Amino acid sequence: MFGDRKVTFSGVQPSGNLTIGNYLGAIRNFKEYSEQYKTFYCVVDEHAVTVRQTPADLRRRTYETLALYMACGLDPEKNTLYVQSMVHEHAELAWILNCFTMFGELSRMTQFKDKSARHADNINAGLFTYPVLMAADILLYQTDVVPVGVDQVQHVELCRDIANRFNQIHPDTFTVPEAVMPKSGKKIMSLADPEKKMSKSDENQNAVVYILDDRDTIIRKFKRAVTDSGSEIRQDPQKAGVSNLITIYSCFTGKTAEEIEREFSGRGYGDFKLAVGEATADALAPVQAEYRRLLADKAMLEAQMKKGAEEASYYARRTLSKVQKKLGFVQIR
Ligand code: TRP
Repeated sequence: MFGDRKVTFSGVQPSGNLTIGNYLGAIRNFKEYSEQYKTFYCVVDEHAVTVRQTPADLRRRTYETLALYMACGLDPEKNTLYVQSMVHEHAELAWILNCFTMFGELSRMTQFKDKSARHADNINAGLFTYPVLMAADILLYQTDVVPVGVDQVQHVELCRDIANRFNQIHPDTFTVPEAVMPKSGKKIMSLADPEKKMSKSDENQNAVVYILDDRDTIIRKFKRAVTDSGSEIRQDPQKAGVSNLITIYSCFTGKTAEEIEREFSGRGYGDFKLAVGEATADALAPVQAEYRRLLADKAMLEAQMKKGAEEASYYARRTLSKVQKKLGFVQIR
């Protein structure tokens, strides 16, 4: 809490191009907190280096992710938007929290298991302790609410365990946060294999729709989307492909699944897929235009990074020095 306002924190990695899954499952929902909460939205570049990055790409994507936050309607006057590596307290608190996190807990993280299978040649310690850095991100700001997609809920649960453990030994240190997921669009599935999450690292580029794909590309990808046997447009666990398209259409148009089923009753998959593609392209067009405008102004983005880091540091410093004091680190003023 800050005064009478609850705190929201979330982060997005500047690695790879962001998909409509990132947009619908996370970023789009950040805005609804701006009015009532004290909000921190971070570009988590330190998390990104747990897998090898090309420096020039990482740098470029850091600007892009900040621009995308703003293009998605996050006003830098109302939200603290910043870059993780510019606030050194994240890494410092992460070290301390490492000493309050168990090897066994980290070994159970499903994302670690997945990522170490995918990057078998680089199972580094950072990949393993990734959730501890994430816990530090969250706990530094005494966060109440963490909006995330389903794949991050396990990490937020671990963060709660770490906070509770620390608080038990050193009472009243951290607010114990809660994960919140968007009501719909939590999980957008691959267009080629609707049993799999849509992922920016998918080898099949037709399976993934990026926030910045142009209109023709978006429509083409949806046209190729895998549907199911049969021809009915209806939400059904047996029809994962069609259900996924209904979810996407619903998210972008605000229509309910029932309304969509009615709208397309008696019509074919072809019609429906075109409609989903057009709705997606229509909804993304203003975000894309604003993004391009913002990205062209590097000086503005840098000024924004500086301002955001200064704001965040103020809060981060307070929590870190509280923690250091509780642990018995000597503090000289
Ligand atoms: N791990 C998150 C992801 O990959 C990103 C992230 C880092 C994050 N720190 C966070 C999300 C803190 C929420 C809160 O999506």
